[in-house]
Amino acid sequence: MRFAKDSASIVPLKDTVFAVARRAKEDMAANGDQVIDATIGSLISEDGKFVALNSVFRHYDEIDDVIKASYASGMIGNPSYRKQVYSWILGKADLALSHSVIATPGGTGAVSAAMMSFLDEGQTVIVPEIGWISYDLMAAQYNLKALHYELFDGDRFDLASFEKTIQEAQKTQDRVVAVINDPCHNPTGYTLSSEEWAEIIAILNRASEKGPVILINDIAYIDYSFHLSSVRDYLTLFNGFSDGVMAVIAFSTSKTLTSYGLRCGAAILLARNETDVRDAETVMEKTARAGWSNIANAAMENFVWVTTEGKEAYLEEKQKYIDLLKQRSDLFLKEARECHLPIYPYREGFFITIREKDNAMVEKIHNELMNRHIYTVTVNKGIRVAICSLPIRKIQGLAAKIREVMDFCRKGE
Ligand SMILES: Cc1ncc(COP(=O)(O)O)c(C=O)c1O
Repeated sequence: MRFAKDSASIVPLKDTVFAVARRAKEDMAANGDQVIDATIGSLISEDGKFVALNSVFRHYDEIDDVIKASYASGMIGNPSYRKQVYSWILGKADLALSHSVIATPGGTGAVSAAMMSFLDEGQTVIVPEIGWISYDLMAAQYNLKALHYELFDGDRFDLASFEKTIQEAQKTQDRVVAVINDPCHNPTGYTLSSEEWAEIIAILNRASEKGPVILINDIAYIDYSFHLSSVRDYLTLFNGFSDGVMAVIAFSTSKTLTSYGLRCGAAILLARNETDVRDAETVMEKTARAGWSNIANAAMENFVWVTTEGKEAYLEEKQKYIDLLKQRSDLFLKEARECHLPIYPYREGFFITIREKDNAMVEKIHNELMNRHIYTVTVNKGIRVAICSLPIRKIQGLAAKIREVMDFCRKGE
């Protein structure tokens, strides 16, 4: 007997992270410190502890029980949260667009609600071919087709493929939804330059001559950029949107506040025309009400406090981990260069990805790495190394070990 709806896939989720992480843990229990676990996509300190920022959680502990117990004051989020998210996301960027903020359960909720609210079943969403696995899962779950653009042309964003993929989607539908994960792309650590952003906006504007274009910009890792003072500058370029373009910025407090478990984020809607933003807000509000109702009141209140009254201490504490990510990535990149380990262009962020376009070879290398007690995550056309969770002493020599395994696996071909 089949009970699930006919259109749903009953193939179990392929969990590429947790299953390997479990193996790593077992290996560590048996073989100790020689095991290298580069699977976990959360910040782990040099002494192996999961990072939960003090400047975030001490205030959370002080929040009144009644605030924790209460519903939020609005389906699209508490007004103070919506206002503060907007100001936090923009920073110094000066936007002349109409906007709205919808509180969502993490960045996942923002991306997923946008896909669901802007596309009808059977339509196509455009996503990067190397990217966060959930984009494809969301598409499948909402009966959308996913079209993939090639992420890189050499070491630069593949603008031509992005435009071609949009044109491909426009052959069968008038509305286009395209996802870009920037800055600090998962899994490569790439960040677009402002020149690339200007080109992307020109592409979106050209496409909007044929029909509405929605850009979902997933900024989950933005607050770990190595260039915090300028990382939001590209948003000013959004002022150049034509009337036919809307952006949905998907924000997550999971990484920003190291509060993955509090499930708090936001979708920021931006477009030239106020009525277009209000219409989209109405649909998103219904998606929220139908899907999760409202977001944890205390999580929103905490974000507002931490990023205003608690801001100085918070930024100082977070900066230590940004500096740590920089030290870890510098070391890995230096050693990768020395041993000619092919990697995708890394600029900043939690992950570095080894470049291997043959997915059968990716599997082979991944398995051989595990034989040698090195645990990583396979992605399309690559192997992800989570430097966010690897202490420096375990990064030392890692690039050379991976290079050795790649050579070993290729020799057997
Ligand atoms: C690229 C990317 N976007 C969004 C998210 C959303 O995370 P959350 O739903 O916890 O905010 C993640 C989390 O891993 C991610 O890697």
